[in-house]
Amino acid sequence: MPDVWDPAQYERFRRERAQPFHDLLAMVEPRPGMRVADLGCGTGDVTLELHRSLKARETVGVDNSPAMLEKAPREPGLRFLLGEIEQFAPPERFDLIFSNAAFHWVPDHPALFTRLRAALAPGGQLAVQMPMNDDHASHQTAFELACTHEFRRLLHGFERRPRLLEPAQYASWLHHLGFGRQHVRVQVYGHLLESREQVIEWVRGTLLTDYQKRLTPADWERCLERYRELLLPQLSEEQPFFYTYPRILMWATL
Ligand SMILES: C[S@@+](CC[C@H](N)C(=O)[O-])C[C@H]1O[C@@H](n2cnc3c(N)ncnc32)[C@H](O)[C@@H]1O
Repeated sequence: MPDVWDPAQYERFRRERAQPFHDLLAMVEPRPGMRVADLGCGTGDVTLELHRSLKARETVGVDNSPAMLEKAPREPGLRFLLGEIEQFAPPERFDLIFSNAAFHWVPDHPALFTRLRAALAPGGQLAVQMPMNDDHASHQTAFELACTHEFRRLLHGFERRPRLLEPAQYASWLHHLGFGRQHVRVQVYGHLLESREQVIEWVRGTLLTDYQKRLTPADWERCLERYRELLLPQLSEEQPFFYTYPRILMWATL
């Protein structure tokens, strides 16, 4: 399947997306000489910030999009790998496994969390942030569109079903995986966008990439047009537009 992640599109909302990253980073307990993994690291900009602010000994960023990794920053102790989060099973152990806004792309969270637990060194920490916005019209409309006769056929039946579980379920797993201390919370971020049109630009850079990569360019244009027609009447015309975005943030240490 083609790599449709577009760093320029994703970075358009860089300032708005920065806050959850900083809130997640604030949950991490800095320790001397940490080995850190950043899974679904994107362009690597936040990986660099993570590496610097923790004064980490070594940080590895992993992402499966060559386009996102293309301009990854260079810094001593920092490296990037092209790879799937699902296949992340390193021989070495990490002091921190960090992931900002990426695990919602990965299926089978019980298996994922179990594997990541095994990749942590004694006293290791896990810090994960995932969007939980499936109930918003911006996400519901995409699901509904994929279920229409026309797009079900073009997408060969693909639907992007929510992969996230209840926050309490994650807390329970973390406990049963042996994490002694944890903090799991849902936080609603309010993003002030110029207008409701900007919601489409936001979602194009993330959620809709899953549809884009399965469609021909012409069908993708048609999909975007239908999405716009269905979504905009559901959103207020207020300017600026207040886009609510709940996210789950979780931190735990062994
Ligand atoms: C929303 S971006 C977040 C990027 C970065 N963590 C940040 O905070 O800006 C999600 C990233 O996850 C990557 N990704 C999605 N599914 C993945 C997978 N299964 N394995 C590796 N990377 C994945 C995408 O390529 C994209 O760069």
